[in-house]
Amino acid sequence: MNILLLGSGGRESAFAWKISQSQHCSQLFIAPGNAGTGSFGKNVHLKITDFEAIRSFVLKNNVKMVVVGPEEPLVKGIHDYFLADPQLETIPVIGPQKEGAQLEGSKDYSKRFMQRHSIPTAQYRSFTKASLEEGLSYLTTHSLPVVLKADGLAGGKGVLICTTLQEAQSELTAMLGDSKFGEASSTVVIEQFLEGIELSVFVLTDGHSYKVLPEAKDYKRVGEGDTGLNTGGMGSVSPVPFANEDFMTKVQERVIIPTIEGLKEDNIPYKGFIFIGLMNVEGNPYVIEYNVRMGDPETESVIPRIESDFLDLLIGVAEENLIEKKLIISDKVAATIMLVAGGYPGKYLTGRGIAGIDNVRDSLVFHAGTELDNGVVKSIGGRVIAITSLQDNLFDAVQKATADAGRIYYDGRYYRHDIGADLLK
Ligand code: AMP
Ligand code: GLY
Repeated sequence: MNILLLGSGGRESAFAWKISQSQHCSQLFIAPGNAGTGSFGKNVHLKITDFEAIRSFVLKNNVKMVVVGPEEPLVKGIHDYFLADPQLETIPVIGPQKEGAQLEGSKDYSKRFMQRHSIPTAQYRSFTKASLEEGLSYLTTHSLPVVLKADGLAGGKGVLICTTLQEAQSELTAMLGDSKFGEASSTVVIEQFLEGIELSVFVLTDGHSYKVLPEAKDYKRVGEGDTGLNTGGMGSVSPVPFANEDFMTKVQERVIIPTIEGLKEDNIPYKGFIFIGLMNVEGNPYVIEYNVRMGDPETESVIPRIESDFLDLLIGVAEENLIEKKLIISDKVAATIMLVAGGYPGKYLTGRGIAGIDNVRDSLVFHAGTELDNGVVKSIGGRVIAITSLQDNLFDAVQKATADAGRIYYDGRYYRHDIGADLLK
C-alpha cells in the first residue's frame, strides 16, 4: 500500500525508516520530510495543515493510509476532514479525531477527563480572565512550587513552575490578563507540583484494544546535569530501569486501562498513539499530560526496539484488529543523542553545512531539522539530527551514540554528553 507520513522531525525519520522496511509498504511519501527521509521514501512539498492539498495528493497518488506525526493536523481535525469526504472516508488516518485530540489540545479538557475516570494526576483548578481575581486569591492558599499551565497548545512553552507566590501571581496575570500565550492562555490550569522522575509511556490503540510500546525517558533541559532552559528534548533512552514490571503493572491498571475505557465510555473514537507523560512519585504513577502523538526524541529510541512490522500494527489500528497483531520488543537498550543548533532553544544558527554523517559507525542517523540544498545537507531547525545506538546495555548504547554524535560536525553544533548518565549510577 502507498502511505503518506506527515511531519519533518526526528520522530518522522524514525517512522519512515521503520515503515519503509515493511512488506506492506509499496511507496512511502513524507510531507514535507527532511534531508534524511528522502532515503526512505519520497519527500513531497505539502503543508501538513493544508487539508485540501493533502486531499488532492492522496487521491492522485493512490495513498491508502495517512500517518500523522505531529499534533497540529490532528487538533485541527485532519481525521474528521477525511471522514467527512466521500472520496477519503475509507482511507485510514492514524491519529485521533478532533475530540480525542483535545486530550493534548486542551489541558483543562484532559484534566476533566482524568478526574471523570479516576486517573491519578495532580490536583488542579482552572481559571479564565473572568475569574482572574479568584485565581490570584486561590494561589495564596496553594503550596509552593505551583504549576501554571496555559490550556491550549503553546509550542511546549506554556508550562511554568513558580517557586514564589509573587512570581505565580504575576505569571497568572500575564497569562490571563495580558494573553502571554495568546488564545492558548485564555484558560489556565493551576496544579500541584509533583516531585519525582518522569517517564514517557506510549500506547497504540484501535479504540478497542491496545498495545504498550517500549517506554522511554526524555532529557528536556538543554544543559548537562539537567540544567538550563527547557527544550523539545535533547536525548532519550529506552527501556527505563525504574519502569519495572511492578511499576508498569500499576501504569496499566491505574492509567492505561482507565484511559482506553474512559474514551469508550465518553464515546470518543480514538485510533492512534497516546503518549502518557508520567511522574513516578514514590513508586506510584501520576499523569502529567497526554499527547496524541509519539514523543520526539523518544520515538527515535522506541522505534528501533520494535522488532515486529510496525506498519502491520498500524494496519491493525486502521482495521480495528490490533489485538491480533504481534508486537515484539527487543531486549536491547537504545540511547538517542540530539545534535542541536548553536543557541538553541533561544535564537539559533541555521543554514550550516553538515559534515561527517557517513562517519557514523554504530548508530542510526535520524535527521530532524535538515534540508538538502543543491546536494548539500544543511541545518534548518533547532534540533538538527538524532543519533540512536541500540546495544546490549545502557552504558554501551550511550557511549556509542555519544561517540557517533561527535563524528558529525557543523558550525555551532551542540549536544549533551550525559544522556542516560543518571540511570547508570
Ligand atoms: P507539559 O507541557 O504538561 O508536559 O509540562 C512540561 C513539563 O513541566 C513536564 O514535562 C514536567 O517536567 C513539568 N511539569 C508539568 N506539570 C508538572 C507537575 N504537576 N509537577 C511537576 N512538574 C510538572
Ligand atoms: N519529548 C517530549 C515531546 O515530544 O513532547
